[in-house]
Amino acid sequence: ATANTGFPNNFLWGGATAANQLEGGFDLDGKGLSTADMIAHVPKALRKGDHSMEISSRRIAEILAGDLSERFPKREGVDFYHRYKEDIALFAEMGFKVFRMSINWARIFPNGDDAEPNEAGLQFYDNVFDELLKYGIEPLVTLSHYETPLGLTLKYNGWASREVIGLYVKYAETVFTRYRNKVKYWLTFNEINVLTMSPYTGGGILSDKVEHRLQTIYQALHHQFVASAMVTKLGHEIIPGSQIGCMLARLESYPHTCNPEDVRKAQVESQMNLFFTDVHARGEYPNYMNRYFAENNIVIAREPGDDEIIAAHTVDFISFSYYMTLTVTAGPEGDVTGGNLVGGVKNPYLEASDWGWQIDPVGLRITLNTLYDRYRKPLFIVENGLGAIDRVEADGSIHDTYRIDYLKQHIIQMKEAVRDGVELIGYTAWGPIDLVSMSTSEMSKRYGFIYVDLDDEGKGTLARSKKDSFDWYKQVIESNGEVL
Ligand code: BG6
Repeated sequence: ATANTGFPNNFLWGGATAANQLEGGFDLDGKGLSTADMIAHVPKALRKGDHSMEISSRRIAEILAGDLSERFPKREGVDFYHRYKEDIALFAEMGFKVFRMSINWARIFPNGDDAEPNEAGLQFYDNVFDELLKYGIEPLVTLSHYETPLGLTLKYNGWASREVIGLYVKYAETVFTRYRNKVKYWLTFNEINVLTMSPYTGGGILSDKVEHRLQTIYQALHHQFVASAMVTKLGHEIIPGSQIGCMLARLESYPHTCNPEDVRKAQVESQMNLFFTDVHARGEYPNYMNRYFAENNIVIAREPGDDEIIAAHTVDFISFSYYMTLTVTAGPEGDVTGGNLVGGVKNPYLEASDWGWQIDPVGLRITLNTLYDRYRKPLFIVENGLGAIDRVEADGSIHDTYRIDYLKQHIIQMKEAVRDGVELIGYTAWGPIDLVSMSTSEMSKRYGFIYVDLDDEGKGTLARSKKDSFDWYKQVIESNGEVL
């Protein structure tokens, strides 16, 4: 065999989004409330760390009673709901081959457990998919991206309950059947590991309804693993040739020093991160987790058939987000830095973004090799990018050279990984159009090639304009990653 020299011809270049950060129209055309609609904007001065992702039933009751002077930016998004044609035309102009988006579950089943789906919600996604396909852009659809129907949270405490498996399977069956001729690529749960860091975000679980935190978390995850395997089976049956993947917030952990205690600590951190893809891709719980469960008094309730379904319906490919690496120490923590939900020791060799995320392009090559060596399955980078403050010049131009540089360095390392022999099928940069930040609900933390005139207070015309990175990314796609 000859060595690869670059990206394969059918490489899927594009961008990635989530309904709750993009669409707006949170109460239009029969949509029910979702967990994301309950997340208020917290002005920077009042914020503890990056964000607070614990929400109690009392807090939800207060929000539902109304009368709050708070803003909920994920309800408004950037109005993709009304502007999808204009936005997709811009993606097409950049030459996108793929567009990652999520279906907002509560548009389809407003309460999560309705008898019938909401036709207006189904029609909206038909319109979006048709618009994408018109330009030859392949949709890549996440079934669940931090937007559990609020009804499921209030009635079942979200994924803590086994009942939610059946409701999710019904939702998946509905959309698979409806879009069988339009969507081939699917992801079951966005960043499934985030449930361990924020049970509300990842699982729609309320903070006051948790007695034994780890028990609840790993039980909810078990429900998601079973649901994911059931839906993988279903997708293959309903949509011949479909490709169904899992999605991990990938966090490579480096040892702070060569002290074996630090190296071992990094290994454990890696295992705790790879546990999720181990289950999805290998079809069984890894042994190291059984020890962890025993030592933390976690007993996973399983029903007959759970292990079999997880074993029989592993994913077709592994997708992940990559923004940073972490550095860990077995000793007392030194200078701390982190991401939106994680922390670690400062790595003296790396620079960080304005939000403290450590920028590490070589880490992407490392992680691609790690994942491919471990699973031998196709990989898909479905999020990567730089959240930064952009300055609009007097003439309206935006010179985001820092973003171009970030993406360029990562693509260089991706190409190295492909040359190493890693089977990489695509790359979708996070937030190709500016959207609401997941962790802070800010607009000023921007990722886009396309600027949206909207600020942290919700003011602006919502007009779209091209940043310098727009033409740059267009040329990257045109040259299949050769001209950077
Ligand atoms: C990922 C999420 O964790 O990171 C996205 O899947 C999120 O939803 C992205 O937007 C960037 O994080 P943030 O907090 O900067 O929006």
